[in-house]
Amino acid sequence: MSQFILIIILLLPIIVELKEHWSYENITIWSHDNRYCGGNLQSPIDLRFNKSHIDRRLKAMYLQKQNSHDSLQLINNGHTAQLNLKNHFVLKNVAPASEDYRVEQIHFHWGHANDDVNGSEHLLEGRSYPLEMHMVTYSSWFSNIHEAMSNTRALAVVGVFFELSFESNPFLQPIINALGRIRDNGKHVVINENFNLKALIGEKRMRRYYRYDGSLTTPPCYESVIWSVLQEPLQLSSEQLQAFQRLHGEKSVLMKNTYRTIQSIGSRKLFRSFTSENIHDDEIKKQISSSTSYGQYLSVNMKFLFVLMNLLMLIA
Ligand SMILES: *[C@@H]1O[C@H](CO)[C@@H](O)[C@H](O)[C@H]1NC(C)=O
Ligand SMILES: *[C@@H]1O[C@H](CO)[C@@H](O)[C@H](O)[C@H]1NC(C)=O
Ligand SMILES: *[C@@H]1O[C@H](CO)[C@@H](O)[C@H](O)[C@H]1NC(C)=O
Repeated sequence: MSQFILIIILLLPIIVELKEHWSYENITIWSHDNRYCGGNLQSPIDLRFNKSHIDRRLKAMYLQKQNSHDSLQLINNGHTAQLNLKNHFVLKNVAPASEDYRVEQIHFHWGHANDDVNGSEHLLEGRSYPLEMHMVTYSSWFSNIHEAMSNTRALAVVGVFFELSFESNPFLQPIINALGRIRDNGKHVVINENFNLKALIGEKRMRRYYRYDGSLTTPPCYESVIWSVLQEPLQLSSEQLQAFQRLHGEKSVLMKNTYRTIQSIGSRKLFRSFTSENIHDDEIKKQISSSTSYGQYLSVNMKFLFVLMNLLMLIA
């Protein structure tokens, strides 16, 4: 009997190891080894404005810098390029009166060379983007991400789309420059260049996001994630995108189509933090409402008068 138990104990790490072996080549069988992957609260999903509900309690999220001198390490883990950011930032305002969420890492999902269309995990109005960045954070109630990972709402992940532009994105360049040095599975490198996550995402972009309860998008697919996907994409050049597409994964094959297919939203509700689909409409409303809330009725009246005068001049 005790020998039997000993064998089990010796085998256990191997079983766990086998379960960690998964690939984007056969996403449909993830749920065979990882039952959560077949659950009802899975990610990613298609985000549609007309199917979402406004939640006025969803405030602008922001990153607060911590005093950390830990180096930034970029790793090729066989599935993605991941930048470890432990102790560098906390994410604030995830939910009303919520605890802080500590930023653990950012990583990316993309398509393959000659595909400028597919790559993102989430879709926006049924449309995909060539790259999606995920900022993974965990609740400060837990002492580390591994402890948090399988608990309801213990993770908060922020998804950011990238669209192609003619100009390269300078804030992304420190990562791009390092990708060439982690071409192969298991490689890692310390980023010495100044990498500014706050500047990369941009403070304003963190105001407008979709929110829903979902999961990790890779095995074990734990349904523990508060998802926030920013509505407004970032930009990168096609040269920058190609740097991701050149990475090699397990068995030295190109890492490609590193995105999971869309999951059903089921009975879940999709929320959003913003009023109108059009960014500029909201900006104008915000300006007016913020000036009224400070009691500056006079300035609003002046604005109104100004607009009215302009209109009258147009008519005349
Ligand atoms: C799924 O992919 C993994 C990794 O490439 C491979 O080891 C496994 O045999 C595949 N399974 C099937 C059923 O294709
Ligand atoms: C959402 O619905 C409004 C009103 O019916 C429509 O004008 C708009 O085009 C829709 N937006 C999308 C993205 O389908
Ligand atoms: C993007 O994905 C869709 C759906 O799988 C596919 O039909 C299309 O050919 C892909 N686009 C490119 C440029 O490969």
